[in-house]
Formats: sequence, structure tokens, C-alpha cells
Amino acid sequence: MLIMETASEVKLHVRWMIKADLASVLGIESKSFDRPWCEEDFCDRLRFRNAIGMVVDRNGTVCGYMIYMLDRGKIVVEKLAVHPDFRRQNVGKKMVDKLKSKLNENRRRKLELLVRETSVGAQLFFKEMGFRAIEVIRGHFEDEGVDAYLMCHELADTFSAAPDGEMPRNRIRIYL
Ligand SMILES: CC(C)(COP(=O)(O)OP(=O)(O)OC[C@H]1O[C@@H](n2cnc3c(N)ncnc32)[C@H](O)[C@@H]1OP(=O)(O)O)[C@@H](O)C(=O)NCCC(=O)NCCS
Repeated sequence: MLIMETASEVKLHVRWMIKADLASVLGIESKSFDRPWCEEDFCDRLRFRNAIGMVVDRNGTVCGYMIYMLDRGKIVVEKLAVHPDFRRQNVGKKMVDKLKSKLNENRRRKLELLVRETSVGAQLFFKEMGFRAIEVIRGHFEDEGVDAYLMCHELADTFSAAPDGEMPRNRIRIYL
């Protein structure tokens, strides 16, 4: 029997990844990447003290996941993927919103990740999420001979945070 869900019945919840999620995560991983990580790769990465894994639970089903590292001054996203059946339904955005909520002026003020030059969909997604490509890393994905784009999202700096219509004041220039 086909059960239709209305938009108001769909609940997306981002929570910590637990061991019981691994089978779903591996399933999404294999559908999302040409060279997917295996179980050992995930376990190895999550053993690092600064590594965090989260999943998106959609009415009890894991439909997306991310792995990120808490680094000095920034958060580096290692993996972020959504099950193909649930793409274009804001699951990816929900994860990026979660990451953005972890930024703050004093500790970590930017998000960074590497995207394959061939993953145009992912590039457009991150651009839509407010990331900019800031560097090309030649041959980063050596096994495939593919370049990577370093994409970055930073908290608005004090200049762009100036109130509407007010020019930012250069407080240093008067001393030069
Ligand atoms: C990239 C990815 C995570 C996006 O997840 P998603 O849940 O489909 O994204 P969302 O629904 O939150 O998209 C939000 C907006 O981003 C943009 N966007 C997302 N995917 C896009 C695509 N393939 N092409 C163009 N724009 C895209 C759209 O503007 C979209 O809004 P819209 O659907 O109203 O037009 C998903 O396609 C994926 O898992 N890809 C394979 C794995 C991967 O490449 N991961 C990134 C590298 S680590």
C-alpha cells in the first residue's frame, strides 16, 4: 500500500550518528560516491576526538549524514550526502544549517570542504548554501586524476555586518 505523506507530516531531525545507523549510512554512501568509504573508513575517522558524525532522521528513516572535524578556527566537512530518494527536499540544507549554527566569532568562524571538480550538483548546492570556491587543488583526488575545489563559508565579517546603508568605518586608517 502506498502511503502519501503531506509536507507537514515530514519531520527532519538532525542527531548524533550511532553505531546502529552505520548500515543506512553505508547504503547512502555507496549510492552517492564512485569510491565509497567502507565501514572501517567510517570507524577510523570517527575515532578521532575532533570528528563528529550526524544523521538526518526523517520520520524514523536515516536519509542523510555528515562527518565533520572540529579544527582550529574552522569546521572541515569530510562527508555530506543525502539518499537519492530524498534529494531536493531540503535534507542537505538542514545539515548545512546545523553546521552554520555551530559557528561563532570567537572559536570557529568558517566552514570548509573539498568538492570534486566533476561534482557539479554538489558545487551548485554549496553555492546555494552560501559557500564560495576559493582555491583549486590540482590532482587532489589522485586516484581519479581529478582536481578539487576548496569551498568555504565564513561568518559575515564586521564590514558586511554594518547596518543598512551605513558605510563601514575604517578605525585603523586615522593612525596611518
Ligand atoms: C549535494 C547533496 C548533498 C544535496 O542534498 P539535497 O538534500 O538534495 O539538497 P537540498 O534539497 O537541501 O538543496 C537545497 C538547494 O540547493 C540547490 N541544489 C541542491 N542540489 C542541486 C543540484 N544537484 N543541482 C543544482 N542545484 C542543487 C538547489 O537550489 C536546492 O533548492 P531547490 O531544490 O529548491 O532548487 C546531494 O545531492 C548529495 O548527496 N550528492 C551526492 C554526495 C555529494 O556530492 N556530497 C557533497 C560532497 S561531500
